[in-house]
Amino acid sequence: MQSSRRFSCTFLLFLVIGCASTPRVPVQHVVDTTPAPRLQHVWHEHMQEVLFTQQQLAKRVREMGQEISQDLAVSSAKFSKPPLFLSVLTGSFMFTADLLREIQVPHEVKFIRASSYGSQTQSSGQVSLSVPHLTAQDVLGRTVIIVEDIVDTGRTIHRIQAFLRGLGATNVQVCTLLSKPSRRVVDVAMDYVGFEVEDQFVVGYGLDFDKRYRSLKYIGVLKPQLYVDR
Ligand code: IMP
Repeated sequence: MQSSRRFSCTFLLFLVIGCASTPRVPVQHVVDTTPAPRLQHVWHEHMQEVLFTQQQLAKRVREMGQEISQDLAVSSAKFSKPPLFLSVLTGSFMFTADLLREIQVPHEVKFIRASSYGSQTQSSGQVSLSVPHLTAQDVLGRTVIIVEDIVDTGRTIHRIQAFLRGLGATNVQVCTLLSKPSRRVVDVAMDYVGFEVEDQFVVGYGLDFDKRYRSLKYIGVLKPQLYVDR
């Protein structure tokens, strides 16, 4: 009886010492910093120039996240619900993922699909929206921030704003990574703009041409000879 109690005590002692001495793994050791193998992606050769490097994008997205967080920290007291980020698919998926990781206030995210391009580099002028499960309840009494990859003619943002107002949203803001002011057809007010770009077709970091180039880590200007409709 006594020996079994002694065994239990010894076991417990080892357990406590064991737990206490288990080294905690610092977070930076968990992050895989192994450099990726240097493969030459054929898509790099399709670029006329790199407009924004991965580092430039990360820096600007961080700044935007900080600015939005500060504004939301001030304004959120006015609303009963946390702000809603409405990410416009597909082009803004990468920007949204990076931006939201920089947002320092509680928030929610939903997605809306907008399409105006086929395999062309020119807008068709018709914007179709597909919004699964977005109701008036989702937008009433809160800030809604539309997260867009690029505002070109402005038709897409204009269409989404009209849709949200139709649901009863009163505080709709626009956050876009890129803006092409020279191509604007519809005047849209934007609250947060990452970079302004010239009238040239850009791809990468979520932006595509004919469903390609979205996964590039940088934003580049596509060689005009790769498309013929401009
Ligand atoms: P908007 O309705 O003309 O403002 O067009 C907005 C949409 O067009 C964006 O969400 C993009 O999907 C697409 N778009 C406009 N310019 C570019 C570009 O230079 N590269 C890739 N997509 C673009």
